[in-house]
Amino acid sequence: MTPATYTLPELTGASDADLARAFDAILHSLSREAHDVETPEQLEHFRVRWFGDKAGLINKGAASFVRLAHDKRLAGNTFKQVKESAEQLYSELTSTIQRTDLLSKKLGATLADDRASASIDLTLPGTRRSIGVEHPLTRTMREMTAVFAALGYSVRVGPEVETDFYNFEALNFPPNHPARDTQDTLVVAGQEAKPLRERLLMRTHTSPVQIRSMVANAPPLRIVIPGKVHRNDESDATHSPIFHQVEGLCVDTDITFSDLKGTLDYAMKAFFGSSVKTRFFPSYFPFTEPSADVQISCPFCGGKGCRKCKHSGWIELLGCGMVNPAVFAAVDARRIENGLEPAYDTKKISGFAFGMGVERIAMMKYGVGDIGQFYSGDLRFLNQF
Ligand code: PHE
Repeated sequence: MTPATYTLPELTGASDADLARAFDAILHSLSREAHDVETPEQLEHFRVRWFGDKAGLINKGAASFVRLAHDKRLAGNTFKQVKESAEQLYSELTSTIQRTDLLSKKLGATLADDRASASIDLTLPGTRRSIGVEHPLTRTMREMTAVFAALGYSVRVGPEVETDFYNFEALNFPPNHPARDTQDTLVVAGQEAKPLRERLLMRTHTSPVQIRSMVANAPPLRIVIPGKVHRNDESDATHSPIFHQVEGLCVDTDITFSDLKGTLDYAMKAFFGSSVKTRFFPSYFPFTEPSADVQISCPFCGGKGCRKCKHSGWIELLGCGMVNPAVFAAVDARRIENGLEPAYDTKKISGFAFGMGVERIAMMKYGVGDIGQFYSGDLRFLNQF
């Protein structure tokens, strides 16, 4: 900043012209000095010099002109205008300085960082970035899907918000059938005006993707369906209203129950280890007939009995069965509605389906006691995988 140069003039005369010149000179000097202000400290110095209560050039100097003037009223008004212009200029200057000061502080910080990095010791080991791990549920789904992919199954997925038709009707759950109660369905609100089959709900299983795939594609079909499903279940150590399933469907000529048994026996051995055995028990699902529940010999104790298999030596793992002819009939009816040829004539083709819960398998495999841990996002849990 160049040194302040302005000093109050000795007024030689007190004419209006003399006063006008003096006021002009004040404003002129003020704006020239303002031009040189660059830092908050200089701004403060400038403020005191010009606007200070007693010794400030505006109050002390300019006001003294007024006292000398012949026409005090005119001089007073001029003084007021000069003061307003001066204050306007000062407030603009203040905001400019504040902005510049902030910027230079930021810039200073960056420069300081640069200086710090210049002193980094390049021989020290670097900071290792953790890239995370695959979530145990994703991993279980992927590994199970891969077992079937290796058998020639292709992966299919479908929507989580489904219609009653795909989730129930086509899977042979008639309206009001008690089997619907076993699914604890979460329905989308405000659907009452639609026909039942078009009403939306959260899919309760991955089986609707069986229907969607058969409606879209004629046999042969071998598909594996990983996905998220929803049920109105109370959360506890083994239940969650949102969970995952892996489902499979095989449709072709001459598919029999022994194909189903052989496929699942092979898949369980591929997933859990070649020493596991499987056994099948009669069960019920509306969309398979006959239906079965499958147990595997405990992969942890080899069937001797341990905590994981609740000392029975066996663990129940999946549901399965031969595709119910009623399902094929519903698929063909929908294909015809969609302008496609019917393709699922039960005199020529047959199929099997199976479905399993991913959380259940992952809990068993990794020894997880509480299903909620999968969804907690707690790194202390997730870091163990
Ligand atoms: N969809 C059934 C369920 O969620 C499981 C299943 C799938 C059973 C395929 C048999 C065949 O309970």
